Amino acid sequence: MRIDWTALPEAVTKEVADRVGGLRVVPATTGDHAEIAATVTGTSGTVFVKAARSDFGVRSLRFERRVSEAVSGPHSPAVAWHFEAAGWLAVGFEHCAGPHADLSPGSPGLELLGGALTVLGETPAPDVPLFSPQARLGFDHPAMSGDTLVHTDLGPANLIVTRHGLRIVDWAMATRAAPWVEPAMLTPWLIGAGHTPEQADRWLARQPAWRSADPVVLDHFAAKNAAKWASKSAGSTAPWMRDLAAWTAQWSAYRIKTGPGGSVGGGDGEDYGGCHVEGVAGGQV
Ligand SMILES: Nc1ncnc2c1ncn2[C@@H]1O[C@H](COP(=O)(O)OP(=O)(O)O)[C@@H](O)[C@H]1O
Ligand SMILES: [Mg+2]
Repeated sequence: MRIDWTALPEAVTKEVADRVGGLRVVPATTGDHAEIAATVTGTSGTVFVKAARSDFGVRSLRFERRVSEAVSGPHSPAVAWHFEAAGWLAVGFEHCAGPHADLSPGSPGLELLGGALTVLGETPAPDVPLFSPQARLGFDHPAMSGDTLVHTDLGPANLIVTRHGLRIVDWAMATRAAPWVEPAMLTPWLIGAGHTPEQADRWLARQPAWRSADPVVLDHFAAKNAAKWASKSAGSTAPWMRDLAAWTAQWSAYRIKTGPGGSVGGGDGEDYGGCHVEGVAGGQV
């Protein structure tokens, strides 16, 4: 849950100001997991600062810092510095300037994400104790196990299109899993960005990681994920939860309609020839 920058004690803000050469602070307007998340500018440049003081927040931010340090790929902002003061952990990340990625069908952001997915699908999990699929998702399947780095939260708010390319932020949920888990977790965001479930499946079928998955396992994943968000949203009024419940339900309903393992991609290499049912795509559930 986000709190205001002014809640930081002077011991922390002074340390930040010393490193950045000033304190022009613009709080982040998206995301709400990190306690403090803000762009800070000074004479030495611009840094993105995350800070936490609760036990959970500090553990989570420490984890995110370790993962970010270990993920040295071109798509992740570097950790510039970190310190602890007055009970707070503060981490300064390389600042990524640009808009969030538009993931609507045919958008340039989608193309950039496709490239990043290919890189991620080939990135071994770093030597950091990452989440397991069960711990991250609350459900499991033997085929979800693997040794690939999976971000698991590639919604538009965590994707920034900079003039140097796409940057993926917020590695707080990084998981060690099979590579197909990443694109599978992307489906609700694609549907939320205007893809029909069939379009989402088709686009993902271009990903080698997706094609490595058994379609029946994808069906299982879709059903479990939809059930999870249906149950979560039933106990909440949060609009984002309702959205995720609707998008995961649409994908699962589409896969059920196309028959066991009959949807696009998975297992059959380049052959995307699943049996598609006209008129189902995009249907409400
Ligand atoms: N390194 C960064 N550079 C620029 N903006 C960032 C950076 N990291 C995060 N942001 C912005 O701040 C928002 C919140 O940060 P994020 O790390 O996603 O925190 P949360 O855990 O609260 O979702 C993101 O949605 C993004 O817009
Ligand atoms: Mg975020």
